Amino acid sequence: MIPLRGSPLRPRALLLVLILAAVPVLAGCVGADLHGADDDHGADGHTDTEAGHTANDGHNDDHGNGTLEGPLLAKGQSWEATFTTLGTFKYHCHPHPFMEGEIVVSATDPAARDRVEVTMQNFKFTPERVVVKPGGTVKWTNLDSVAHNVVAAPAGAADPHAGHGGSTSFTSIDRSTAGLPASKPTQEVRLKHGDTFDLTAGLVTHDPGTGKPIQMWAYNGQIPGPTLRIPEGANVTINFKNNLPVETTVHWHGLRLDPRFDGVPHLSQKPVPPGGVFRYVLSTPDAGVYWYHPHVREDIQQELGLAGVILVDGPRDPSEPWPREFVVALDDIKLENGDVATMWREEVNHAIMGRYGNQTLANGKPTVTLEADPGERVRLHFVNIANARPIKVVFTKNTTVQSIGADAGYYKAPKPYGHAPTISPGERITVDVIMPTNGSTVIFSNEPHGMPPVELGRLVASKKAPVATIPAPLSPHNLSRPEMGPALQRSNTTVDIEWVLDFWMDPAHMAMMNMNLSNRVVHTVEYVDNMSAANAEATPDMLKWIIRDNATLKENKDLHYTFKQGDIVRIRIKNLNTTMHPMQHPIHIHGQRFLVDSTNGRLNTDPVWKDVVTVPAGSEMILTVEMSNPGTWVFHCHINEHLETGMEGMFTVK
Ligand code: C2O
Ligand code: CU
Repeated sequence: MIPLRGSPLRPRALLLVLILAAVPVLAGCVGADLHGADDDHGADGHTDTEAGHTANDGHNDDHGNGTLEGPLLAKGQSWEATFTTLGTFKYHCHPHPFMEGEIVVSATDPAARDRVEVTMQNFKFTPERVVVKPGGTVKWTNLDSVAHNVVAAPAGAADPHAGHGGSTSFTSIDRSTAGLPASKPTQEVRLKHGDTFDLTAGLVTHDPGTGKPIQMWAYNGQIPGPTLRIPEGANVTINFKNNLPVETTVHWHGLRLDPRFDGVPHLSQKPVPPGGVFRYVLSTPDAGVYWYHPHVREDIQQELGLAGVILVDGPRDPSEPWPREFVVALDDIKLENGDVATMWREEVNHAIMGRYGNQTLANGKPTVTLEADPGERVRLHFVNIANARPIKVVFTKNTTVQSIGADAGYYKAPKPYGHAPTISPGERITVDVIMPTNGSTVIFSNEPHGMPPVELGRLVASKKAPVATIPAPLSPHNLSRPEMGPALQRSNTTVDIEWVLDFWMDPAHMAMMNMNLSNRVVHTVEYVDNMSAANAEATPDMLKWIIRDNATLKENKDLHYTFKQGDIVRIRIKNLNTTMHPMQHPIHIHGQRFLVDSTNGRLNTDPVWKDVVTVPAGSEMILTVEMSNPGTWVFHCHINEHLETGMEGMFTVK
């Protein structure tokens, strides 16, 4: 994918110039008041309407203040504009505003030319400074494999995309604790096919490590909510009641269920108003570990405690001994002055990195203590229910730990835990721990790169005599494996869709927050919030996280794919590390399951069925997605604040 240096126009690009050249002529201008492309007569055949218009939807755009914006250009595509007004123009790329240049229109400068070509390569314009005669043309050609475009504005003009951030009209949510019941410990609820269960979201008091209970939100008064244990192949009914002061829905993360019960507001269902009810019917086709959480303002609702775990049990040989199981919901919370850090009713904040907490939580408390017998095999299901923080779970040295499964499936056979995987929000792992027989405690902790580990919990051996260690049960391991056949067959073949994960930030806010390319931090995975002041202030009107289809250049809500049931779709995800804030994105696909086929070209030899994947900054992953479940679904970044800035697209399986 190395772009040809100084390559001439490709045939496709030539066509594009023919199409576009007539559009952005800035003719007959008076003073600095430029007139740009006429949207309604766009030669791209697109007639603009107010609805559905975004500044970045691939056609030319006159922002009315003399600012001109070209279309998003794929690799090899060009755009040109004619400049008639004397003066200086600043130009930049809209999704990558740190790519900057200058156009001087001069009748007297001997360097002024009639026509100048500028390339966009390695996230840089060459040349950056251009001098043209009045009526001169500048042509930009993109040689990068991701889309760029050009926004040119008279020096001093306001940026057309500048938000009205810093609005003071945001109001905090009510934080009183008066009259609220105390939270209760999480209960495990066993449900059979045909059972009905009542689930209510409401307010409680709970101490997440402040030393004093604060107002939190809970399912059935429990933090985390009840653990639902359901056999594979069942349907169970959940009668949900919303006792929150705000609207909500429940999303049953990872279950391949009927889309009417998927909990996506305005797509699967109308949000449930305060006091309202909704009847969900869950289906459990696949043994594995799942969870449930709200799909409305997750930044607030999940942070305050709304999440619960679902265990779907595969068929078992009753004579096969089974390990003792524990669920550990990994989370964090951002505390300030003895309460949760500010939350705005109207708007999400922490929109750059997401709301990383300053207190990690295991099952709703700073640490959790679990008891088992010496020598016993213990099965731990870790689920990351945090808003944004990825977690790596490590164990006391010399503990025997085996990887059993992840998300919606199991490895071929148990294998040594080895290098701790990153568990991003939405992801799950299942591991077996063999309790030591002498020395009695296994500590599991979060180990962010380069930072001291933070204890999440411990497994303490009981006073009993050591028990015989049972082998790992075989039951789950052959369950969903045969079904991988068609997906595995497409492994390492062509790619159907390519997504680029990108970031755009209003240059004015970038300057205000003192963000620039030279002081930015590049980590493939951000385990901590390294810019918390700027991040806390950041709202979606200042920035945008982007999933962009690299063929159509459509982004986020403009993405809507259609597939046939049974299609195996190969998706390459490229997460740029050239943006203003490179970081990992956990990408979640609703209603289906997928295999991670490769990472940076390295084939995955033991895939499991998953529904979320962590894509580190600067990496490329290929997913093989099984489009098995009809309906209209979303895919999105599972950092709640990124989702709230619009990092989400849609697809229909027919
Ligand atoms: Cu767990 Cu759409 O999310
Ligand atoms: Cu993200």
